[in-house]
Amino acid sequence: MPDSMLTKFLRFSVDLGFPDSPARVVKRAEKLLKQAFGARSCKIHLSTSSPASPTVEKGSIRIPLLERKRRIGVCELKGVKHCSTSSRSLLEKLCAETAARTALAAYKERLIDGSENVIKAFSTGMDFYDRFTEQHSEAVRDYAAAIAGEMGMSRSGIKDLVRAAHLHDIGKVGISPRIINKKHKLSSEDWKEIKKHPMVAKTILDGAESLRGLIPAIVYHHERYDGKGYPCGLQKDEIPVHARILGAADSYATMMANRPYRKAMSFDRAVRTLIRSSGTRFDPKVVKALLKVLRKRST
Ligand SMILES: [Fe+2]
Ligand SMILES: [Fe+2]
Repeated sequence: MPDSMLTKFLRFSVDLGFPDSPARVVKRAEKLLKQAFGARSCKIHLSTSSPASPTVEKGSIRIPLLERKRRIGVCELKGVKHCSTSSRSLLEKLCAETAARTALAAYKERLIDGSENVIKAFSTGMDFYDRFTEQHSEAVRDYAAAIAGEMGMSRSGIKDLVRAAHLHDIGKVGISPRIINKKHKLSSEDWKEIKKHPMVAKTILDGAESLRGLIPAIVYHHERYDGKGYPCGLQKDEIPVHARILGAADSYATMMANRPYRKAMSFDRAVRTLIRSSGTRFDPKVVKALLKVLRKRST
């Protein structure tokens, strides 16, 4: 590839990025190709029955999108004033790149769909095991997503956080049901057992390839900002941000829930606890975001 063509190809490739759905790849590619070739319009149709070879007629160019020789669609540029052989060759390369990214995004979507089913299966199993988990996981998911949104986290970051929230206590399946479903206060021996659940979760999730990325958020959701948490005693930024958010969402959801051995805290008392624990138990930035969320919801 000549230098100028390589530069254009690399720029397109970087600007196209790795969108997380085929529709987003197409939308971005259409915009970039229209600009790059000064076309009046650019439309990409995803269809396996699209034409197999390029066609050029009256300022309109149609290039098939081929992914490993398989037709997955066609790109149609209209209103292109002049298209030299080298421009057309570049366009074919950019269409091949678009096809590869589209296929990758479709693969990622299928992988996520599959892992969503694994998450649902795990959660259902967990609900049978622990009577309080279902509502608790839902509350944690809701608060965690709201905190992350308030902190300006990306869409895909929030998606991962929500998936981790779903499974954050999955490790409790490794703890005796006698302790998990106890109707009175837990003893220090019980707590010793309970504190094993993050590492049990790691063992479980290590076996599910599509869920391995959630391990840091889940394993460290009981770490404390001041380093006095468990299982590793990490502190401040050593704790992944997803785990810091999950930790605060988890604690707040627990404060606000009735348990057999104690009543839920009042809203005011829970807010005072969050403020008092900012910088010790919880990341101050996370507490600030959670307080904003709660303020918005109470007005
Ligand atoms: Fe937990
Ligand atoms: Fe929890």
